[in-house]
Amino acid sequence: MNARPLLAALAALVFSCSSAAEDGYDLWLRAAAIKGARADEVRSHISEVVLPEGGSEVLRCAGEEFRRGALRALTQDVPVEKAPAREGSVVLGTPASSPVVAGLALPLQSLGDEGYLIRSQIVGGKRAIVIAANSDVGVLYGVFQFFRLVQSGQPLGALDVSSRPSTKIRLLNHWDNLDQHVERGYAGQSIWNWHKLPGWVDPRYTDYARANASIGINGTVLTNVNANATSLAPAYIEKAKALSGALRPYGIRIYLTARFSAPIELGGLKTADPLDPGVRAWWKAKADEIYAAIPDFGGFLVKANSEGQPGPQDYKRTHADGANMLAEAVAPHGGVVMWRAFVYSNETPTDRAKQAFDEFVPLDGRFNENVLVQVKNGAIDFQPREPFHPLFGAMPKTPLMMEFQITKEYLGFSTHLAYLGPLFEEALDADTRVKGGKKGVRPTVAKVVDGELHGYKYTGMAGVANIGSDRSWSGSIFDQANWYVYGRLAWDPELSARDIAEEWVRQTFTNDPAFVKPVVEMMMGSREAVVDYMTPLGLAHLMGTGHHYGPAPWVNDLGRADWNPTYYHRADANGIGFDRGPAKDGKGGSDAISQYAPEVARQFGDVKKTPEQFLLWFHHLPWSHRVSSGRSLWDELVVRYTRGVESVAKMQATWEGMKPFVDEERFKQVGDYLAIQHEEAQWWRDACIAYFQSINKLPLPDGYAPPKHPLEYYKSLRFPYAPGRT
Ligand code: GCU
Repeated sequence: MNARPLLAALAALVFSCSSAAEDGYDLWLRAAAIKGARADEVRSHISEVVLPEGGSEVLRCAGEEFRRGALRALTQDVPVEKAPAREGSVVLGTPASSPVVAGLALPLQSLGDEGYLIRSQIVGGKRAIVIAANSDVGVLYGVFQFFRLVQSGQPLGALDVSSRPSTKIRLLNHWDNLDQHVERGYAGQSIWNWHKLPGWVDPRYTDYARANASIGINGTVLTNVNANATSLAPAYIEKAKALSGALRPYGIRIYLTARFSAPIELGGLKTADPLDPGVRAWWKAKADEIYAAIPDFGGFLVKANSEGQPGPQDYKRTHADGANMLAEAVAPHGGVVMWRAFVYSNETPTDRAKQAFDEFVPLDGRFNENVLVQVKNGAIDFQPREPFHPLFGAMPKTPLMMEFQITKEYLGFSTHLAYLGPLFEEALDADTRVKGGKKGVRPTVAKVVDGELHGYKYTGMAGVANIGSDRSWSGSIFDQANWYVYGRLAWDPELSARDIAEEWVRQTFTNDPAFVKPVVEMMMGSREAVVDYMTPLGLAHLMGTGHHYGPAPWVNDLGRADWNPTYYHRADANGIGFDRGPAKDGKGGSDAISQYAPEVARQFGDVKKTPEQFLLWFHHLPWSHRVSSGRSLWDELVVRYTRGVESVAKMQATWEGMKPFVDEERFKQVGDYLAIQHEEAQWWRDACIAYFQSINKLPLPDGYAPPKHPLEYYKSLRFPYAPGRT
């Protein structure tokens, strides 16, 4: 990699195109030129950079990132030195790569393999900032953190920052098909151009890698969980190899999804039975072939026996049998298998919310060491709000990975502004109250996932990517914040969603408090607005069939009971909600509540103690039931649906006031999308109220407008070309 031409080109860009349109391509790495007194202050701390000589590709990228960041911020290149030559130098490196860093005897032990330290100190008699780590990638992360501080207006005079990631595997999961269609993708086509690979390695892959490294993501699953065996064919391994070459310099490993029936489809075998020696040998040979091409290949992600995907149960084997077979194949190469717990079957008569727990808990302790079970944050499917998945805490002998969905399949696609930080935070902070974990550790979901509670050897988090070929990467400017907050929380689940929103706003737009404060406020309330206008009070899964666009709570005729919205809300003339309490005399609830630790189960089992946000998730209640506001359940639903629409109107007003701070292009896109959101929020409210009212026949509370159209109108709407379909 040659830094000179790159920097020269960048300099030309900075100076010649300062009026270039802001289309969002640069993400939070936009690095606006710093002006005024702050520029002088920053310049006094970045007068030169001391880089190690030689070193790995990753270390060279760290140096290049530093120079790029400095150039963007100060619109001038910084000199490179071998040792501090003047006041205000920045020293980068590891003890192994940099004699200067080695000479400082820094406290690096506690930083692990990927952590970093940023510190102001005297080096060789000169005032300096040191960015050091045990590994090259740690230095790279430190550089990105340093520029986060620079760009978000933080003081640089007395730095003492150190950080290490809480989880080892921090992944994006791309639900990208080989034909470039992205399942649940709302940002264009897949950025992986398989057809042109390996000959054409799009420079955009490097920008993708930079963006991910800047927030600590260290791996990416390139292919859809609804997998295609072809991605494991030799020609595609060559393509994946070319991609891995573009991502590796930024510390990003690649992973692939493994279709369980690949030995039949690709290998011509008669079976994919995980206990069949021929099948086992096929997977071993396949793993060897992949690792010969991609020595740091991360491993496989598998969706098996779920929504029609093949799996070990087709051969009367368990999920552990299937996972262990693949784990054995990748183990000699240091790879892992991430086996998804998202399983449910229409043939099983139990509540869908219970099925993953029922399947997986009995297998605890039966998975090989390099298997992680990947669990969605809630037990149904990435709804605007779900209680935490009861599997967290219930499998002490099996590393459980978190799976979040960054792409907004159920939260308005890419035109609704919904900052997911509070959703992720709510899930991670949930207290499982399980007993028997490490003493003194509060058993939150985060502490399960980061391995502290149960001493997992492997730990990880996955986020279903919202990235596509759109110039803005994520389909909208504010959806970039969801990619950002996911990465930051995967690195450190203790960070606050609000602080992360603020960091993002400052880097993406401006440090002006007149912008930062209202916009962060707007982001923090935005997910709750979606909950209100789509699924208030613990409702779930009310969306249109297949594409999942818009409301359709009336749907009750799908092939599978558990795909029907009516299965989830259970509204009838008397009441609404899913009773997940104990069954009495063959009647009553699904007993899903008993999958939680006793204290949590007691809380969720008691209508009076259940947090209102989960009320109808756990209870079927009469329409007349009084909620905490003193209103009836029906009135409260109407109030909340209406409040959701009003919240979007408030977001529109806030954004209108931000015009002076934002370039025209981004200002307009956000404003236009908010207008779409407002219209669709109204649609959600009206369609749901019209439908529920057709069932309970109750009047609307005083002062609340009736739906704009009759129910039949909402039912008649069709969206055959909505994006992201399966
Ligand atoms: C949801 C989503 C599917 C996806 C599935 C999964 O059901 O709608 O497109 O395949 O989750 O996570 O496997």
